[in-house]
Amino acid sequence: MDINKLQRENIKNLRPYSTARDEYKGQAKVFLDANENSYGSPLTSGTGIDKNYNRYPDPLQLDLKDAISKIKGVPIENTFLGNGSDEAIDLLFRAFCEPGQDNVIILPPTYGMYEVSASINNVELRKVNLLPNFQLDLDGIAEAIDEHTKLIFICSPNNPTGNSIVRTDIETVLTNFNGLVVIDEAYINYSRQRTFIKELMEYPNLVILQTFSKAWGLAALRLGMAFAARPVIDILNKIKPPYNINQATQDIALDALKNIDQVNEWIKTTVEEREKLSNALQTLSIVKKVNSSDANFLLIEVENALDTYNFLVEEGIIIRDRSKVTLCEGCLRITIGTTEENITLLDTLRRSLNIQ
Ligand SMILES: Cc1ncc(COP(=O)(O)O)c(C=O)c1O
Repeated sequence: MDINKLQRENIKNLRPYSTARDEYKGQAKVFLDANENSYGSPLTSGTGIDKNYNRYPDPLQLDLKDAISKIKGVPIENTFLGNGSDEAIDLLFRAFCEPGQDNVIILPPTYGMYEVSASINNVELRKVNLLPNFQLDLDGIAEAIDEHTKLIFICSPNNPTGNSIVRTDIETVLTNFNGLVVIDEAYINYSRQRTFIKELMEYPNLVILQTFSKAWGLAALRLGMAFAARPVIDILNKIKPPYNINQATQDIALDALKNIDQVNEWIKTTVEEREKLSNALQTLSIVKKVNSSDANFLLIEVENALDTYNFLVEEGIIIRDRSKVTLCEGCLRITIGTTEENITLLDTLRRSLNIQ
């Protein structure tokens, strides 16, 4: 794969914005180069923040990337950080897809932002549905690819179905496709399958997305990661807004990364709760099928999805109605809650059966 050919012509020719912090990186006595407020920031001591936020943050977030690198084992130069994985998804479109000319392939049912980003960027979307077992239709994908196909999005574990995609099938796509294969691993921490991170050096066309929004419990922070070969990361860094990760996000993420033991404990509990909830749901008469899940949610098929959904809303329990989604007819998606929340859900569903 030739990254120079893959990227858009205007991106290849782009001279990126050069920030004050790009032009002078060292320590100094006096900084008068970025038109910041030299007096400080008006934070009250009540916030517990001991830092002045009057200075622009590190545009490349090197301290944070260093801490992430120690956990993930990916070098800093192969790591991009975005304002959520959603920013990385959007930047991939902007860097590689010529509006009105190129196309991307998605594999429904899958995460909705790939389609939204394609529409925003005026890029043709080709849909190759998953097979009824929610695995890849490799022949369909091969047929959909043409010389203008730039990206293929594979979500594994997949949202909303919850299953992991068979590893050898993903490898087949990686080997045979000349554009970028984006593996969205937002839910990888809950999976029985291992991440593709170790394969990064093997495939120059592999992009892995991960996020702090799920297992790391920091959805409000908006911090996502993309791991890829150096030329891809360099392009994303070239086109990103200069200070896309704010200082508060960098500080809070650095603090959270010290607490990985807590995260691992929650992952273990979530997986145990997933199996308990799955077994319990299968005993309910309205439940036709509980799909096996490698994520922190379950996709279940029920007798009357909308009635069940509405009943739960009235009882103050909000789940996701997925019954209108391709291949998910009659299905509801339920996030794994705390032990108490899962018991409340099950008790409420049992009560609904008694009412009927
Ligand atoms: C598969 C998948 N990718 C990405 C995201 C979004 O991640 P972020 O919060 O980092 O933008 C989600 C959120 O639901 C998701 O399900």
